[in-house]
Amino acid sequence: MSARTSPAEAFEKIPTVLFGHAPEAAAALAREVRDLILARRAAGRPTVLGLATGSTPVPFYRELIRLHKEEGLSFHDVITFNLDEYYGLERTHRESYFRFMQEQLFAHIDLQPDNIHLPDGTVPLDEVFAHCAAYEAAIEAAGGVDLQILGIGRTGHIGFNEPGSSRDSLTRLLPLDPLTRLDAAADFLGGENVPRFAITMGVGTILRARKLVMMAWGGNKAGIIAKAIEGPETEAVSASFLQSHPDARAFLDKGASSALTRIRLPWLVGRAEWTPAETRRAVLWLALKEKKPVLKLRDNEYNEHGMAELLTRYGNAYHLNIEVFNRQQQTITGWPGGKPNADDTSRPERAAPFPKTVLVLAPEPQDDVLGMGSTIERLVTQGHDVHICYMTGGDLRVTDAEAIRFARVLLETAEQDSDLWKEQISYARGILSEIETKGPFGDPPARLRHLKALIRRGEARDAAISLGVKPSQIRFLDLPFYTEGRYRQFRLSPQDATATGSVLATLRPHQIYITGASADPSSVQGMAFAAFRSAWDARAGHNWQEHCRIWLYRSHQSEYEPHEIQMAIPMSPDQLSQKLSAVQKFQSHTLPDLLDGERNRHTARTYDALGTAEYEAIEAFRRWKS
Ligand code: GLP
Repeated sequence: MSARTSPAEAFEKIPTVLFGHAPEAAAALAREVRDLILARRAAGRPTVLGLATGSTPVPFYRELIRLHKEEGLSFHDVITFNLDEYYGLERTHRESYFRFMQEQLFAHIDLQPDNIHLPDGTVPLDEVFAHCAAYEAAIEAAGGVDLQILGIGRTGHIGFNEPGSSRDSLTRLLPLDPLTRLDAAADFLGGENVPRFAITMGVGTILRARKLVMMAWGGNKAGIIAKAIEGPETEAVSASFLQSHPDARAFLDKGASSALTRIRLPWLVGRAEWTPAETRRAVLWLALKEKKPVLKLRDNEYNEHGMAELLTRYGNAYHLNIEVFNRQQQTITGWPGGKPNADDTSRPERAAPFPKTVLVLAPEPQDDVLGMGSTIERLVTQGHDVHICYMTGGDLRVTDAEAIRFARVLLETAEQDSDLWKEQISYARGILSEIETKGPFGDPPARLRHLKALIRRGEARDAAISLGVKPSQIRFLDLPFYTEGRYRQFRLSPQDATATGSVLATLRPHQIYITGASADPSSVQGMAFAAFRSAWDARAGHNWQEHCRIWLYRSHQSEYEPHEIQMAIPMSPDQLSQKLSAVQKFQSHTLPDLLDGERNRHTARTYDALGTAEYEAIEAFRRWKS
């Protein structure tokens, strides 16, 4: 740490490279790998790569495949060792890491099958120890790993080294942390299906690699990344052990870097520019840290926290406090569509035109209601023309049990007149047999996915209607990246943007609400936002766009800090209850931690703590491109 020069690096104990977006980072890393392979080949030596699974390395693997196919990069003398494998899964299981690697990389490049190594999740328990020892020996025999690629789990694990893994741990079988299993629940179509154990390289095994690169994308990794990079080296966060490796780096996108000190508290590393946004961030941070309302902050508190320069600009704390307080207070409005005939100079939204055409884009059904259910209700009540567009069907979240229930109801109804309802009977039987044939983990055929999407649609419609939205103003886009994809492996195509663009062009809204801007780019929310962004950019310059304001609402992956909020819609206890009953319309799947409105209550408590106003709950919004 002491050898490094910049103040940011004084906090960052793993050298960190920031990229705008994941594909740029992936391309930079792929170029490094190409150079490494070519250099070692020139010296007559094979290259040993340590590989990881999960959604994080997918853009990197796509770039390696491109280098192979378009630039002729060969992998014939490359040897690979994967970090880990679920215990108990056959190699053919759709969630096995073996199959993942085949699909994402191995099948598309010229690696020699004998050079590929993954732990085997099917070895009998009494042979696991020997198997792990043999894995260690194989790495050693290959000359050790030249470059190890890593993602990071939300428990801070690398490989599957869950909290408690020691720095010297070796390849072994271990139980998975509940948070890790929760994060894998969507892949396995339900938490109960996620394996309880995995075989993983140990921290010690990983640290023996000559070079390491840990990648992370999206805001939901920001907290754990900050702990790994800036916190103490600890068994509680196995990624923190990279700090003492002589050649480990972190490659991050904007979202994943957002909790690092240099981004979150730039004045502490001498990088503050004291723009109005940064000033607001600093003052609110100080108020929350000191547990004082903004208007009670004193000069000495600013001085003691590296903000003397800011104070000098304002003369004293009083002027600074009042300016930031007013700005925060002005984010609160009961008029998300603007207050007609009112002075709107310091309101978040314009008064005119009134009424507004409003488009709410929901990446998955339920995102809209969770993120802004009360705001939707308010917009409708205030006379705006509110349209909701569900960008995907959300069927991947619907369990087989739900589909079985619907197929059985249909079957029993149709069997009452089996001549008239022949086709319905064969459809229902077809669904039931498809579910049986594919088993709990088989890939669902298109017809089954469609039925599940219809179930989800019904729920989405009920929820939107309960908030006052007209049924004729609810659309379902079924973007192809989702209908043709699966979790962690979605791929955007031009049709995704075209379909989104045609909704924009038809409605020419005055307001658009969307989520997912800083989400993990591989998540449904991240993909949907990317489709929206390219649709928006493709139409750039259209007259209606200049008058359209885009608001970002929170998804279950994203949290807004108080300084980021540009519009806060307060809710009374009754309004919160109405929102929660809309959330409950989603019976086929819901995110349990979000059912009680705690996030909206938390935002309200933060506003209260800052000394603005005390409400039951608040829905929060940021402006995009503002
Ligand atoms: C699993 C893997 C890790 C991976 C993590 C994060 O736990 N064993 O190697 O880093 O998932 O997954 P994702 O990249 O999808 O966020």
